[in-house]
Formats: sequence, structure tokens, C-alpha cells
Amino acid sequence: MAHRIALNFEDGVTRFIECDGNEVVADAAYRARLNIPMDCRDGACGTCKSKCESGRFRMGDYIEDALTEDEASEGFVLTCQFRPESDCVISIPATSALCKSGPTVFEAAIADVRKLSNTTIGFTVALDQPEALSFLPGQYMQVSVPGTAESRAYSFSSCVSGGRADFLVRNIPGGLMSTYLSSQATSGDRLTLRGPVGAFYLREIRRPTLFLAGGTGLAPFLAMLEHLDEEGGPAHPVRLVYGVTRDADMVEVEKLARFAETMANFSYDVCVADKDSAHGLKGFVTDHFGAADLNDGEADVYLCGPPPMVDAVKAHFDRIGVKPASFHYEKFLAAETTT
Ligand code: FES
Repeated sequence: MAHRIALNFEDGVTRFIECDGNEVVADAAYRARLNIPMDCRDGACGTCKSKCESGRFRMGDYIEDALTEDEASEGFVLTCQFRPESDCVISIPATSALCKSGPTVFEAAIADVRKLSNTTIGFTVALDQPEALSFLPGQYMQVSVPGTAESRAYSFSSCVSGGRADFLVRNIPGGLMSTYLSSQATSGDRLTLRGPVGAFYLREIRRPTLFLAGGTGLAPFLAMLEHLDEEGGPAHPVRLVYGVTRDADMVEVEKLARFAETMANFSYDVCVADKDSAHGLKGFVTDHFGAADLNDGEADVYLCGPPPMVDAVKAHFDRIGVKPASFHYEKFLAAETTT
């Protein structure tokens, strides 16, 4: 049976390949014309050492010089001896250019544009070849701005369904994509998407997990939640704290409510920083999670928001004296990258 293997390169580019359970990933990569690091192909030199981030697999024969016991217990593998038993994610210690790969280009058309609030616009694209596009929930694409030579980075805010995918954009007055979407976009406008890219993606839920979203940093979590919902819900509690500046910035809350209804292990809170907000929960995300959410350190944390939010959350970990088992974050600058 063929499994879907995501190869994440050092420069953040991800390529997906199909690998039969009876073949090694190195062979499947070569079949896909990807020159991942390789030498002896025999489990002896260690040149192909990479890290398996998720998935089940079995290893063939190799010697200790190529992969030590400690390295194996940390998740390192030899791709020349790696046979998958499920879909897997593998980090390759080389850039995509070095492996003669790179982001893939997908053609699409604007299918829908929605002004979700004064500060946020949602848009949907219809992909020409949706079956060719795979991504890990949380990853982003470089999306061309129709009518210009420019592109902007946006995280998927949905999975691909019916050939379509959604994105959220912060509505920046005078911003290139904001201006296009709010005053020029017409259904059928052509655009290209390059990717998928990014190390901020959902790993297997192995312990209680905390999602922290700031503003349009909600987008990748919507894709992650849709993925979890499709999988039948998370195996451990997942809590999302979504922080916005003003009441008007709050978007897609009805989707969160639906996920909370359909997934037993999912809960969420929305907080508003504005002191004059009419919302029940005020303050920053750091006001609304504590040591209990980090389960004595046996918790994974994902954060997507502006740089000060990342710094504030790291300082909060220090203040409450609990470090999570893993902390994955994506910083975005509204002027350049609107996640
Ligand atoms: Fe030598 Fe894999 S290529 S150990």
C-alpha cells in the first residue's frame, strides 16, 4: 500500500511523494526526481540521516556508525533503510535547491471573496488540479496578487475540499492584496500558488495540546481543526485561545463553535485586548492559560501571531515555571506576511 510521505527541506519547502510499504523512502524520492542526500544506500555511511517527525515505519539493517541508538531514540532515521507503515513526515537536512526540488506551482482562480470584518478578508480559490496539491495543516503558500508581479504568503485556513481552499487576509489599508481583494477581485481571476512551505504544521496529537492564535494567526488553526475533525477528533484535549485587539477583529467564531460541537476533545476561548470591549473575556492570550493547560510540561503548544505575542508567551512560560514538551510557533509581520 502506498503511503504519503512529506519531505520537509531546510528552507521550509515541502514535497510529497508516494512510497510503497515495501520500498525505501530513498528509492521513492529518486523516482520523484528528488536527490535527497545519499551515498552507500546500505545503512553504513550515515549520509542519508534525517529525522522522522511523525508516522510509523520499520528500519532495515544498518550499523551503529551510521545511526546510534541515541539518535534512533530521538527519531533520526536512515532514508535508505526506511520503509513506511503509515503516512510520515521526514525532515531532510538539506535545502530543496540542493535536492533539485523547490516549491511547486499550482494554477487557480478566485472563487469567492468575503469581507469577514473591517480588518479581515477571507477568500476561496478553485484549484485547476486539486488532486496534485498536498500540504500539512498549518503550512502556507506564496499567493500571487492578480494583475501584479508580486506575491504574498498566506496560510491555508481550510483543507482542500471540492477542489477549493480558503485563506484569511488581514485587511491592511493600501496593502496590495487587501486593495485587490476589497476593490478589484472578480470571480474567475487567475492566480498562482507556490508551495507548500513552512515548518509550522500539526504533528500527531500525543498529549494535551494548546493552540494560541493572534488575529489572522487563526488561519492555520482552522486548517488544523478541520483536519482533526476529518480524522474523527483529537485523541487528547486540544484547547485554542484566540486573541484579538478589538471586538470587530473577531472572525470565524461560528466555525470554532462547530468544531467544539463535533469534536469531544476540543474547546476554545476568544479574548479581546481592548479594555472597552463588550466581550466577556478581556486581555491577552497569556491572561487565559496557565500551568494547568501545560499539564506539568506534558503538553504541546502551537502559536501563530505577531512577534511580540511570541515573546510574551515565552516570558509567560518562564513566569509560571512550566516549559511545554514542544513549542511550535510562526511569527508574522502584518505588512509583509499576512497569515
Ligand atoms: Fe549510507 Fe543511507 S546512504 S546509510
